[in-house]
Amino acid sequence: MKIKKILDSAETGSDVLVKGWVRTKRESKNAVFIALNDGSTLTNLQIVASPESFSEKIIQQVTTGASLKVEGQLTESPGSGQVKEVAARKIEILGPADPEKYPLQPKRHSLEFLREIAHLRPRTNTFGAIFRVRHAMAFAIHKFFHEKGFLYLNSPIITGSDAEGAGEIFRVTTLDLNNVPKREDGEIDLSMEFFEKETNLTVSGQLEGELAALAVSEIYTFGPTFRAENSNTTRHLAEFWMIEPEMAFYDNQDNMDLAEEMLKYIVGYALEHCPEDLKFLNDREQQEEKSKPQNERNELTLLDRLQFVIDHDFERITYTEAIDILRNSKPNKKKKFQFLIDKWGADLQSEHERYLVEKYFKKPVIIYDYPKEIKAFYMRQNDDNKTVAAMDVLFPGIGEIVGGSQREERLDKLTGRMEEMNIPKDDLWWYLETRKYGTVEHSGYGLGFERMIQFVTGMGNIRDVIPFPRTPGNCEF
Ligand code: 4AD
Ligand code: MG
Repeated sequence: MKIKKILDSAETGSDVLVKGWVRTKRESKNAVFIALNDGSTLTNLQIVASPESFSEKIIQQVTTGASLKVEGQLTESPGSGQVKEVAARKIEILGPADPEKYPLQPKRHSLEFLREIAHLRPRTNTFGAIFRVRHAMAFAIHKFFHEKGFLYLNSPIITGSDAEGAGEIFRVTTLDLNNVPKREDGEIDLSMEFFEKETNLTVSGQLEGELAALAVSEIYTFGPTFRAENSNTTRHLAEFWMIEPEMAFYDNQDNMDLAEEMLKYIVGYALEHCPEDLKFLNDREQQEEKSKPQNERNELTLLDRLQFVIDHDFERITYTEAIDILRNSKPNKKKKFQFLIDKWGADLQSEHERYLVEKYFKKPVIIYDYPKEIKAFYMRQNDDNKTVAAMDVLFPGIGEIVGGSQREERLDKLTGRMEEMNIPKDDLWWYLETRKYGTVEHSGYGLGFERMIQFVTGMGNIRDVIPFPRTPGNCEF
């Protein structure tokens, strides 16, 4: 039986069989107390073994990290700290863990150290909690879209296009890099490639998502995304997961409404379904805050921040309004921003986004209608000839969590922009055909799954919310 089930619903007096990993062992004169965990819940199950009933060899092998199979009777616990415990009748050591060598001793380890042992960190309370919350959030996202009638679309992982046009792509090749076949003119002979063309890992499923939305109206993707951007920040991964809904007949207002509704829904789902893990993460953050300087501490606790997002409308402002606020802001005037805002057209950095969210509005903010120069070719051009119908959702502590737009559905406008931005039209002939045949107004956005998990768990570094992070110079495990 899973420990969660035992603790939630098993009757005292009943016989149970549990398997799990030892967190701690405590020995007193009359009893050995074992804290066992199987990952189904944060709470350990207390196993009580009387020393007379078990050989010394068995008791010695019960050490932190060892795996056990335990049979016994579930009883009411006389001790404080737990309601039920198991009086062990049989203990089998499934896999011992040499206590001298086991890297995860029962003490507080730094997150940096735990990243170096990412193969074992799921066995800690913190990572168990994070991964259970991550699971619940993934489930909530599927549930949200399923209930709205969206189809889950699997967009390809290997593609021939760079959807964002940003060039931060991982090449996929089967060629022998020590002996690359060349043509007579010295260029790589792409006919020798597996796909007989240049291919890479996807940076976004959006373009394929649009093809499907222009047939079945509403879809979403939820898959891995790869970007070779060399940014070693607490918000960037080389491999992350993105949720990309795409909706026919939606304008950018509808797009923003959907994003806000979805974000509130999944935060609410986590609060409802992960109370124990979120309480643990909340308290963990409270502990950490104590060692931070006053001005870097969160004004609200994690749980209060989550509730706040659900209870308040997101602020919606245009890029132009955002620039006015930033230009006149204290950190800009006092030259505290690393990138000072002086004119319209400047790209917003995370310091600006966080100022707007955390200092100015003190709530999530959606910025829309950005200058076309700083956004992708596919975004719908506004009548002012300067801006596009883009929208970014900014969250406290995170900055940009969602990026999206209404799409340019007019063929001439789209190809015009592609030419200006040097996006090869031939490669995207299939994308352009949707604008020739039955084109319609449509919109979509991308939610960075790990940034969402960061917000919900309060974890400061994105490397700690994905089981096995990939970042520049790091592809272990
Ligand atoms: O703003 P981005 O680049 O938008 C797109 O990819 C669009 N095709 C989405 C769409 O309209 N369908 O990325 C969307 C989100 C960002 O807001 C951010 O949350 C996340 O993806 N993201 C990353 N997360 C982790 N590591 C990275 N390197 C990320 N790059 C983007
Ligand atoms: Mg973006």
